Amino acid sequence: MQSVTKTLTAVVSEAFGKCGYDEKLGVVTPSDRLDLCQFQCNGAFSGAKLYKKAPFMIADDVAAILKTEDIFSKVDVVKPGFLNLTLSDDYMLKIVKEIESDKFCGIPQAETPQKIVIDYGGPNVAKPLHIGHLRSAIIGEALKRLARVCGNTVYGDVHLGDWGLQIGLVIAELNERYPDWKCFSEDFDASSDTVPELNPDLLCEVYPFASKKSKTDEDFKAKAHTATFELQNGRPGYIALWKEILRVSIADLKGNYEKLGVDFDYWYGESDADKYIPELMKILEDKKLSYESDGALVVDVELESDKAPMPPVIVRKSDNSSIYATTDLATIIQRNKDFSPDKIWYVVDKRQELHFTQVFRCARRAELVPESTELEFLGFGTMNGADGKPYKTRDGGVMRLSDLIETVTNASLERLTNSTFVSEEDREDYARKLGMAAIKFGDLINHRSKDYIFDLDKFMSAEGKTGIYLLYTVSRINSIMKKAGDFKAELNGIYTESERELMLKLIMSGDVWGSAMSEKAPNYICENAYQLAVSFSHFYHENHIMDEPDEKKKASWLALAQLTRTMIVKHLDVLGIETVENM
Ligand code: ARG
Repeated sequence: MQSVTKTLTAVVSEAFGKCGYDEKLGVVTPSDRLDLCQFQCNGAFSGAKLYKKAPFMIADDVAAILKTEDIFSKVDVVKPGFLNLTLSDDYMLKIVKEIESDKFCGIPQAETPQKIVIDYGGPNVAKPLHIGHLRSAIIGEALKRLARVCGNTVYGDVHLGDWGLQIGLVIAELNERYPDWKCFSEDFDASSDTVPELNPDLLCEVYPFASKKSKTDEDFKAKAHTATFELQNGRPGYIALWKEILRVSIADLKGNYEKLGVDFDYWYGESDADKYIPELMKILEDKKLSYESDGALVVDVELESDKAPMPPVIVRKSDNSSIYATTDLATIIQRNKDFSPDKIWYVVDKRQELHFTQVFRCARRAELVPESTELEFLGFGTMNGADGKPYKTRDGGVMRLSDLIETVTNASLERLTNSTFVSEEDREDYARKLGMAAIKFGDLINHRSKDYIFDLDKFMSAEGKTGIYLLYTVSRINSIMKKAGDFKAELNGIYTESERELMLKLIMSGDVWGSAMSEKAPNYICENAYQLAVSFSHFYHENHIMDEPDEKKKASWLALAQLTRTMIVKHLDVLGIETVENM
């Protein structure tokens, strides 16, 4: 079904037309003064200029027609020319019933569904998953689900960092520690030789060690670069070792993402772009875009309109190795071939914006995708600690994602220990869900581009804009429904003001979904879920559902509670937040 403002815009536009005015003036928006009206149309102001007439005269003409429509209970013209609209109860009830029976819960479906590739997660093989990757996973997953519930086809790709210098560093370090491993010898034969099995703990320890060493030890650094280059050029022993590193690392990553409730349709890595690099280089050369500069191959991406300097993008370094931009460009070729997407979204730390600007401009110049394919960088801000600096462990190190998950799960467990609602055996599962709800909602309530402070106590609070408050609301409705047993719930009227307020929020949700999708902003979904919960709470306190002697009212209220639950759960599901039965 379409959003309510869209329906109302059609009605009001027609009224403008009937009065001889341009129909385009009939745009209806939610009111910013809910105490006066529910919706408004300010078209009379633009009309005044067109028709050289006072705005209120135009508004009066239109209002006279709208007053005959039974969908409105109130149509007011407020000087100098606002048109204020309030829906009739009958009409509100009708829309709420439509939402109730709509299999999409009233979420407006895309008129022309799009094919969207979302590049998110972006973990690096052999490096521990740290909290910088948390935001990409949480936001990317929410965007993927959002785009899907709006009727689009979405492919999520983790885009593993599996091909860069970090692998060279690990190979060089392992070589120093275990020089006897067959994979380090030139005559390694993939058909008969093998690589020793690695374990995740070793991997976790090796990378930070090697990375630190490379900062002071020039010799070692050069070895790591050579190893990277040789790996990229297919040295058999390195490829075999790299495959083992991938195996261990990916198993570990999958476990962590599973705990986060994040899942990818594709586990492609930077290395998968490798086979498209020759094609990329040829296009750049044929189109005369690439040229040599200080031994490297570069492409100019500066525009006349640039206010800040825009360096050329390097597509091949002087040592002949390809780099981050090269794999991103080659990946665009791959995605275009495999999916011919309408859009590619990159959910990446906003500090990488320059890189993506360069990559996109180069892709455009090289026509790697049709002009109509949108390439969009959706940068996100940093998760900070209480001191306003990037969130760290107690001893100042980079926080590992697995440690963070453990911290929040333990905090939730502590809370649940005294709960009489949760059985011993459900406790672990509940703790994980509560912890995830807390961190995901705490993250997603902020616009993705903003930095925010990770404040676990605040995120775990049962009051205010938190995931926990929403889980409480759902669990409260669950218990109402349980008490009601098989009492037949059915919407049949509007009896109180708090009910009207809640219904209006339900009706307005369609518009919220629309804005969240068009602005790629899951924070709107968080905010709306919260608003629904607050309105439900007013409704619940004002109307004592279970004690209500009038069975008709009780039936309607129960149905409204049930629909509110469905809607909140839908919102949470898009945010990647699971609910619990009772808490
Ligand atoms: N692996 C990268 C990092 O950790 C993020 C990858 C983002 N996606 C991309 N297509 N470059 O910074």
